[in-house]
Amino acid sequence: MAKPISIAIDGPAGAGKSTIARRLAKELGFYYVDTGAIYRTVAYFFDLWGVSPKDIDGITRYIDELTIGIEYDDEGVQHMIMNGMDVTGDIRTPDLSQKASLVSAHAIVRDLLLDMQREMAEKHNVIMDGRDIGTVVLPKATVKIFLTATPEVRAKRRTELIAKGQKADYNKILKDIQQRDYQDTHREIAPLKMARDSVKLDTSELDIDGVIAAMKEIIARKVTL
Ligand code: DC
Repeated sequence: MAKPISIAIDGPAGAGKSTIARRLAKELGFYYVDTGAIYRTVAYFFDLWGVSPKDIDGITRYIDELTIGIEYDDEGVQHMIMNGMDVTGDIRTPDLSQKASLVSAHAIVRDLLLDMQREMAEKHNVIMDGRDIGTVVLPKATVKIFLTATPEVRAKRRTELIAKGQKADYNKILKDIQQRDYQDTHREIAPLKMARDSVKLDTSELDIDGVIAAMKEIIARKVTL
């Protein structure tokens, strides 16, 4: 069997990675692996146990109690299973965004999740998004793309997305994004950074169709679609 194709998408919070990756995966018939959801699941677990995401002693003590599974439904939607429970609908809160960013800084957490991510890419054609996919998880990915946009554009997009359902405060969202950018780029282990062989795509001035078209062009340079 030919080696599966892997497309690594990294970038800061709110750059549009998941929206774009999900759509592309559907079009290409690939698995979409949202690695942020895995870190969110870890954050949720420790939140339920009342352990702070900064408390490395508490995390070390309880981490063996955690089992994480990734499942896909018939629509190709990724589900996060925490100790046998589907927590997919519980992990998308702003509070868990921050906690995932903090908990993901610990080596013990990152080590636990590495094989799970790599196994997905060994078995299937994947579009995998996160912060360290091109640099650490899949250093030999077939295609690497670094998606970015200004913090203001990212905050605006997120505000509009949330505002469809609930109250959204642009200034608070911008502050959260800037704080997460700082944490994710300044941690010691696997910080968010562009891999040397990654192609940078700034989506600030593009709509979703524009980003998809640009991504397809980048992918087509390496893969026959
Ligand atoms: O992509 P996201 O917003 O769902 O990710 C939540 C947090 O998880 C992010 O702020 C940092 C962490 N994360 C990570 O450290 N490495 C990844 N590959 C993906 C996410």
